[in-house]
Amino acid sequence: MEKYLENLNWRYATKRYDESKKLSEENLENLKEALRLSASSYGLQPYKILVIEDEEIRKKLRKEAWDQPQITEASQLLIFAAYTEFNQEHLDKFISNTAKTRRMEEKELEGYKNMIENTTLQLPKEQQQIWAAKQAYIALGNLLSAAATFRIDASPMEGFSAEGFDKILNLKEKGLTTAVIAAVGYRSMEDDYQHLAKVRKSKEELFTTI
Ligand SMILES: Cc1cc2nc3c(=O)[nH]c(=O)nc-3n(C[C@H](O)[C@H](O)[C@H](O)COP(=O)(O)O)c2cc1C
Repeated sequence: MEKYLENLNWRYATKRYDESKKLSEENLENLKEALRLSASSYGLQPYKILVIEDEEIRKKLRKEAWDQPQITEASQLLIFAAYTEFNQEHLDKFISNTAKTRRMEEKELEGYKNMIENTTLQLPKEQQQIWAAKQAYIALGNLLSAAATFRIDASPMEGFSAEGFDKILNLKEKGLTTAVIAAVGYRSMEDDYQHLAKVRKSKEELFTTI
């Protein structure tokens, strides 16, 4: 427990990365596995996560993200792309995966499927996208904790043009839109932000026990 809190104190939203340090294959796979295990509403995971390594693409993306250096200096850039709509095909795939994983007949899941249908497929498309983006943010939170545990630096970022990113990555055609992004890698010793004290609300201000 103490170690976990120590890791959360160690992490910070890294601004400058050491470009010479790349994540090992094993570390990257571990981060991906942590992301894959993220909780989501019904377990639907209504998003894709793009791992961007290509330097040219990252240069273009940086221009759409207030020229923030993390985009090109980090080891990898992760794009959390939410579904622009959650449709029948997505649900069918989820049900079939659940049946296969839990060795059940799809028929046994009919009630469950109806419930999901009524709460997600019935939503207006705009709401579906907002809901999908919320799920992607849970994965982002999980990434930040996992990265801290593995002592990998990470930067959550909202400072970008979703429209610009979607165009560069051809996301709209795939029924996706950029919800949030994160850079991962290793901090530069010259990044002054690592020395700043954490600014957080006090427990008294943050919590109310009823
Ligand atoms: C969803 C989200 C979006 C953020 N967007 C940016 C960003 O675009 N650029 C940036 O430098 N920091 C960004 N941050 C970092 C926050 O400013 C930072 O997490 C906050 O100040 C708390 O500091 P700490 O994470 O270093 O403890 C973002 C953080 C979150 C959670």
